[in-house]
Parts: sequence; C-alpha cells; structure tokens
Amino acid sequence: MNKLCLITGASSGIGRELAHVHAEQGGDLIIVARRRLELEELKKELETKHKIKVIPIVKDLTEKGASQWIYDFLVAEKLVVEILVNNAGFGGIGKFHERPWSRDEAMIDLNVKALVELSRLFLPDFVRNKKGKILNVASIAGLIPGPHQAVYFASKSFVISFGLALSEELRGTGVSVTTLCPGPTDSEFAKISEMDKTKMFKNSFSSRSVAEKAYKALMRDKIIVYAAIPLWQKLFLPARHLVPTKLLLRAVGKMQDTK
Ligand SMILES: NC(=O)c1ccc[n+]([C@@H]2O[C@H](COP(=O)([O-])OP(=O)(O)OC[C@H]3O[C@@H](n4cnc5c(N)ncnc54)[C@H](OP(=O)(O)O)[C@@H]3O)[C@@H](O)[C@H]2O)c1
Repeated sequence: MNKLCLITGASSGIGRELAHVHAEQGGDLIIVARRRLELEELKKELETKHKIKVIPIVKDLTEKGASQWIYDFLVAEKLVVEILVNNAGFGGIGKFHERPWSRDEAMIDLNVKALVELSRLFLPDFVRNKKGKILNVASIAGLIPGPHQAVYFASKSFVISFGLALSEELRGTGVSVTTLCPGPTDSEFAKISEMDKTKMFKNSFSSRSVAEKAYKALMRDKIIVYAAIPLWQKLFLPARHLVPTKLLLRAVGKMQDTK
C-alpha cells in the first residue's frame, strides 16, 4: 500500500473530499463511516479514476470498541497507516438541558472519544516508525463558547486543545498533528446538526476548498489551519478576546438562533 491514509467520516462532505484529494496524489485509502452504499460508491469512483486501492470499513464510531476493532483489523491485515484523519463529527442545536442526552452523549463519543482513542491507538506505531501524520478536524466553533450548541462548541474546543498539545509533545519525532478549523462548509453537516435554519450557513464554502487547504497544511506539518472563514469572522476572531465575555456569549447565542 502506498501512503495509506485512514479517513473517518469519508462518506460525505469534507471527509469525502479529503479522500478525493489524497487519491489524486496517488495515495491508498481506508474510508470509514456508517453508510455502506456511499463508501462502496466512493471506492468504485476513486479506484476507477486513479491507480489506487480503497478499503471501506463500515463502522459506527460511537460504539464501544469500534476504534480498537478498526486498529486490530488493520494489524491483522498488515496494513500500515501513515496518515490518520479524524474527521467524523456532528453537531446539534438547542438548550443543553432540553436536548436529548443520547444525542449529546453520541456527539462526545464521536467528536471527542473516537478521535482521542484512534490517536492513542495509532500514535505509538507512528512514533516507532518515526513517520506519521494526524489531521484532526475541529472547527472555528472551538475558539469560542457556543450558547445553544454548548456540547458541540466544547467538543471542538477539546479537539483544538488536544491537537495543539500533541503537536508540541511530538516535536522532533517525525510525527505531526495538524488541527483543521473550518467555518461554515457546504456538506450534510448543517442539516444533520439542525443548523440549516441559522444565518451562518447562508454563504458557506465548498467542502472541496476546505479539503484542499487542509491537505496542503497536513503535508507541510502545520499545527493549525483555518478554512472557509467569511471575512467578518476573519476580522472578529482575533478581536474576540477584547470583547467582554457576557457580550460575546450573547452575540454567539444570537447567531445560533433559528428564529
Ligand atoms: N460543515 C461545516 O460547516 C463544518 C464546520 C466546521 C467543522 N466541521 C467538522 O467537519 C467534520 C466533517 O463534517 P462535514 O461538514 O463533512 O459533515 P458531513 O457531511 O455530515 O460528514 C460527516 C461524516 O461523519 C460520518 N459520521 C457521522 N456519524 C458517524 C458515526 N457515528 N460513526 C462513523 N462515522 C460517522 C458521516 O458518515 P455516515 O453518516 O455514513 O456515518 C459523514 O461521513 C466534522 O467533524 C464537523 O464537525 C464542519
């Protein structure tokens, strides 16, 4: 296998586009998600277009033991992953105390636990081989607290903090960790996360543009990369620490308002 890259959440959106970008570079792929049909179609498309091998793994990453199952399967098949892309994730809107706990629990299991577990499983091999790259998909949501999306914003805040800390721990080992922070991106995310009625997704960027920027940063071992950021957010984000906290919370809360 050549430059084998494992991408979680490759059946749509940013993950799917990352698979395309990697395939265009001649790299083989392991694509993980729950929907078999979408994964099979992507495998067929990429193997037809490029001289590469694609292995689909149908898995719900919120299930206990799912990450370990994937790792053990790869070891048994003697497949050596060089790039791990922790991309699968979803969000959800509403007041925390009113939202179904099962949704938020699954969100933490996917956005945080699976990402940490897969990193923990693959990193010892990467360090031993003095070679390996991780791309963790966070969000600009991780840079601020998010009233009406408290768990999602907090989960992405975790991803940013975790990835940046790892990138420093791993400095000089030959292993890199890149954290991607996209803004509103056109994918299935907005609908699944019940955010399609918010103002934020009116002018979203393409998943392809986000994937291209992320892949370039990953190849250059950048520790953090921002993509799909509208101009007003580009201006607002650096200034957010100057805004009084209560004011910031009200403004962000209003942005999540679906009314
Ligand atoms: N779109 C945005 O505006 C935006 C902005 C910032 C950050 N992000 C982040 O970008 C990442 C990718 O999202 P996207 O925008 O590309 O959304 P998307 O189109 O909804 O893609 C999400 C992917 O995750 C997979 N997934 C969901 N639940 C899963 C589970 N339990 N087990 C395994 N796979 C699962 C989905 O596949 P199946 O349904 O087939 O399982 C799908 O392939 C997420 O982490 C998201 O938080 C998105």
